[in-house]
Amino acid sequence: MLSGATFSITTFGCQMNKHDSERVSGMLQELGMRPVETIPEADVTVFMTCCVREKADERLMGQVASMKNIPLRPASRFSKRYVCIGGCIGQRDGAALLDSLPHVDLVFGTHNLDELPHLLQEVVEEETRQASIIDGRSDFHDALPESREQAWAAWLPITVGCNNFCTYCVVPYVRGREISRPFEEIEAQARSYVSEGVKEITLLGQNVNSYGRDLYGTPRFDEVLDAVSASGVERIRFATSHPKDLSDAVIERFATLENLMPALHLPVQSGSDAILEAMNRRYTAAHYLSLIEKLRQVRPDIALSTDIIVGFPGETEEDFLRTCEIVREVGYTQVFTFIYSKRAGTPADEMEDNTPREVILERFERLRALVEEGALAANKAYEGHLARVLFEGEAKKGSGVAMGKSEHGLTVHVQTESDEAVQALAGKILPVQIDESKTWYLRGSLIS
Ligand code: 5AD
Ligand code: SF4
Repeated sequence: MLSGATFSITTFGCQMNKHDSERVSGMLQELGMRPVETIPEADVTVFMTCCVREKADERLMGQVASMKNIPLRPASRFSKRYVCIGGCIGQRDGAALLDSLPHVDLVFGTHNLDELPHLLQEVVEEETRQASIIDGRSDFHDALPESREQAWAAWLPITVGCNNFCTYCVVPYVRGREISRPFEEIEAQARSYVSEGVKEITLLGQNVNSYGRDLYGTPRFDEVLDAVSASGVERIRFATSHPKDLSDAVIERFATLENLMPALHLPVQSGSDAILEAMNRRYTAAHYLSLIEKLRQVRPDIALSTDIIVGFPGETEEDFLRTCEIVREVGYTQVFTFIYSKRAGTPADEMEDNTPREVILERFERLRALVEEGALAANKAYEGHLARVLFEGEAKKGSGVAMGKSEHGLTVHVQTESDEAVQALAGKILPVQIDESKTWYLRGSLIS
């Protein structure tokens, strides 16, 4: 029934969702369906959703609502467009979404991704609408087919869920408790990716540093890094790390493992100890800075990025200035800044919060300017240096500019003479001379 039908996937949020979207694409293609780029071309549209901040919720609702106005694609053999919602909002709201969004046909969650093909078939064949959500089950879905966006780059989830209960965060409630994937499975998956020609593996988890605590009593993330490194893959990255669990053994790996890339995303969230405590982060600014010092000792060129929340309940000007201080002190190449967003059911939602909105927006603006200044300064340091770039594709359609990532995780642009030349570079790792730095990318030329 669905064979030959077209589908599009719109993904919000984190890398785990992007990875799940690759599985969704793989499963739908196995049904004989064909992926298309845009929603108007699709018979079936899947939204992979995120509920970490309110904005993502609103954007989803807006996009789904606008689906009503998009006419059927001319060649469609169906009498309607099918709309599916998966990911975290699907998991959180379940059947309630069918009530609030009358043109949504199917809702599924994060734990039952594998059920999507038969749920969708039922919806189409039986002309029904349905929501199917289950609680707590390991969702590594490793047996599911995946259609990777880039054949040479793979995500490898090693844990799902989170036990940390940062007071602002809804993830532990939606994604459940942390479950680690058995060590041997990770090793086997890494080897299998390498045999398929994968050049870069990104290990995924809400907090990869606590990997194995549920299975082996003590975290074994350093051993995971050793095993994945031994697979011979050219590049290893991982996300995300909780500073309280980043061990010396893991830090050491940045010196000893050649294929572990010199880049680390280490969310600090705030530079104020009072706010860190209210967030239940369980580290101090001084501890965070001591980690940065150790990292720089073992790997002086390591590129650091972070997440920061502005306007957490009770944040004073003094607290905010501490955050600015830490940003200056660390010298991040990239900082993801977020305005605190109230999430129902989290402890922070109950905290007194009387900072005026305009004060928070003004702080956010100041931080943004500081981050830009810092990123430009950090990028400047690469001018005149050599970078090894894994090319991904074209920076902008038709521009002839090839885009890729350096070992430090920075975006690098290289002008080529044609679109074909850009395509020929994709998937290759090549040396590039960095000629110029911009705030969010570097410009360079290929070294022949
Ligand atoms: N409000 C704002 N930002 C949040 N994050 C998580 N929850 C919230 C929230 N309620 C941010 C944190 C986290 C990133 C993925 O999203 O900075 O590291
Ligand atoms: Fe959320 Fe904290 Fe867990 Fe990250 S570590 S997912 S911010 S609860």
